[in-house]
Order: sequence, then structure tokens, then C-alpha cells
Amino acid sequence: MRLRVHPARGPLAGVIAPPGDKSISHRAALFGGLAEGETEIIGFLEGDDTRATLAAMQALGAEVERRGDRILVRGGRLHAPRGSLDLGNAGTGIRLLTGALAGRPDLQGAELVLTGDASLRGRPMARIVEPLARMGASIESTAGCAPLTVRPRPLTGERFELGVASAQVKSALLLAGLSAEGRTEVVSPAPSRDHTERLLPAFDVAVDVRGLRASLRGPATLRGTTVTVPGDLSSATFPLIAALLVPGSTIRLRGVGINPTRAGVLHILGDMVEAGAVEVRRVEGGAGDEPVADLHIRQLGPVRGLDISPEWVPLAIDEFPALMALAAAAVGTTRIRGAEELRVKESDRIAAMTTQLRRLGVEIEEAPDGATIVGGAVRAGRVDAEGDHRVAMSLAVLGLVAEGPIEIEGADWIATSYPGFVEDLTSLGADVEVEG
Ligand code: S3P
Repeated sequence: MRLRVHPARGPLAGVIAPPGDKSISHRAALFGGLAEGETEIIGFLEGDDTRATLAAMQALGAEVERRGDRILVRGGRLHAPRGSLDLGNAGTGIRLLTGALAGRPDLQGAELVLTGDASLRGRPMARIVEPLARMGASIESTAGCAPLTVRPRPLTGERFELGVASAQVKSALLLAGLSAEGRTEVVSPAPSRDHTERLLPAFDVAVDVRGLRASLRGPATLRGTTVTVPGDLSSATFPLIAALLVPGSTIRLRGVGINPTRAGVLHILGDMVEAGAVEVRRVEGGAGDEPVADLHIRQLGPVRGLDISPEWVPLAIDEFPALMALAAAAVGTTRIRGAEELRVKESDRIAAMTTQLRRLGVEIEEAPDGATIVGGAVRAGRVDAEGDHRVAMSLAVLGLVAEGPIEIEGADWIATSYPGFVEDLTSLGADVEVEG
């Protein structure tokens, strides 16, 4: 599928409810499958990634029923699936599930193969396989990548000091800790998203969080609950940035999760736009104790380039493709450093954005851990999503302020996290053609 995004002829306006949070939807499906009894998920993200996790739980024996906008998951008794578990493009899916299954008593004696698409099979898995082995797990990787063969067996709790601020690694270890004997403790070098720590207590599992340490005591049994998934701030970032770019725009994004471990993008944008352009108004909460807000966006003037402080990187990690697109159309220079993790996402996001932005005439210099982008005019042109949903949406938004249309090849990838992206952007007044 190819998108052709035309330069905006007037301000964007309207109200949209961004899709359910991807990270929380993965966890709701996974925990629901592990938990005894019934879990009701409201606002589940029906994207390719989260559906893959839900399908994996179903293949492992969880019952899944769709009832209107709700999903019911009955879990607790897992069995070996018929074939391998295919997590598609989902890093969160494969890493969290591997941890959760590594010590499951009901799967001992089974041999489980977890795999995914070509991109996922190229992403580093040693970061979970090695620490899980210290707990006693038997996991074979393919040269440090998926496919992973897991032979569930008894585990013991361990204390880990992570070398990288990764929520997926932290979560994989805590989930393994659910079926381990004793305490599993994970110490992170810097904050990373804490959805696992916030959601497990809703499933009746106590998690002790002290600063950068999170721990739990196993074996622990999860009990089904109701999970209300807030809107995804990472998805909301695309219409948000679109509105900040198009002069005179006023939009509202309803029901968006603003968990502080995710909200780095709001702080970064706060330093790039006029005061009051992004207004956060708290509303009633979502799953666990996830804070939720309506975001009111007003384009009050040009966006300014920024030297982004590396301390914000883990708190805005998924927003960098969008921020790079924004920087391309900003006034002045934007410098991103300390973001080497971008190279092991759905694509190498530093390389992908550098290549694609250059095709649009953008002055961008790649660094091992980031990029320097000089804002200015963005040319019309044809670009490629490079198999990455966020690269596709970042380039699409830039089409609204380019000198002519931008065509994005490989836009199918958008369904990974934001299946209604084109409809939402169109409803705000954007002119987007879909081909193929
Ligand atoms: C995620 C964690 C992040 C993020 C990913 C989702 C999660 O990765 O990039 O899209 O749901 O735990 P890290 O493991 O690098 O924190």
C-alpha cells in the first residue's frame, strides 16, 4: 500500500480518540492468558502486533471472546500449542512472552518455539536469554535472535542490574519471576516504561517498586480483572505533530495515557513550541493506575529546533522518528544523542529516517547514537517505510508541510500500531490518498 499525502491547504481541526495503548494492550492480553478466571479488556488495540500476542495466548490455551468493544480472556491453564508461536513484528510480544513462559509449571516438559517476521528475527534476544538463563531457564536462540526454543523448567529468583534501560527486558524478567521460587529483582540504569509494575497489582500480584528497582516474589498467581486501556501517546504523537506543523491548527486528542515514564515527548515538545501550544488536561484514569488526559493542541507559531537532553531518550524512545520529522520542518537545528537503542527497533530508525529524510532534501547528519537535523524546506518526493510503522507515519505527517505531495511506500506497516491512522488524519482535514 502507498500513501500520497498532500500539503495542507488550511489548518487541521477536530477531535480524535487515538487507538489503545500498544504496550498496555500486549500486557493485558498476556496477563489475561496467564491469569486464573476472566479478564475483560476495554479499548484493546486491534493492531497487528497486539493481535499477535492475543493469538499466541489463544494458541497456548486461553479462551478469547470478542464482545463489542470488549475482549474477554479466560486463562490460567496453558498447554503446548500445535505449532510455533508467531509474534509477527512485535518485540514486546516475543520478549515478554518468553519471560512469562520460561518457568510456567503447566508447560514443563513442553518445547515451545517463539518466532516472528524477518525484522523481529533480526532483533537482539540475548538481552533476555542470558539473564533468564541465570534464573535456570532453558532457552535456545538462533545466533542471539529468534526463533527461540523455550523448554519451561523450574526457576529461581535472581537480582539483576540491567545495562540498558529497557522495559521489555525488565518485564521479561519480572514475568519469569512469577513462576520462580523467591524474589526476582530488576534494577534499571534509568527509568523505562513501568506498565508491567502498574498492571500486575490489578491482577493481584504485589510488585515492590523503589526508585529504579522493581521486584516481586514468586511463585505468584495472577487473577483475572478488568483492564481499561488508555489511548496510546506514541500513536497520538503523529496527529499531535501534524497539528503543530500546520499553521493555525487546533485539535483535541481524547483519552491519551500520560504515564510519566512515557511522557518524555511532551517535555521535549514543550521546549520546541510556544507556551500553551500543547495543553494537557487530566481526565478519569485507565488500567491499573495509568494517568489519562485530553491533549489540546494549538499551532501558535513555528516549531524551534532543540538540543534534546539524553535523559529524555528512554522516556520518549518510540517518538524519535516523529521528532526527527518535526525537526526537519522546524526553524533551527535539532540534535539527538544517547539514542543508540533506536538502531534495534522495528528498523534501524536512525538509518531509516536519515535515508528517507535525505530523499526529501532534508539536511541530516547521522551519528552512532542519534542525528543532527537542520530544519528547513521539505521537498516533495517518494519515500519508503523500511518495514517500520513509525517511520511510515512520521514521513506521512511531514507531507502536510512539504513543497508538494510525499508518497510513502510500504504504508501497510501502519496497521502494526495504528490501523485508523489515515481515517484519523483525514478527519482532521488532511488530504491523504491510499493506493494499492
Ligand atoms: C516497550 C518498550 C520499549 C518500546 C517498545 C514497547 C514495552 O522498548 O520501544 O515499543 O511495551 O515494554 P524497550 O524495551 O527498549 O524499553
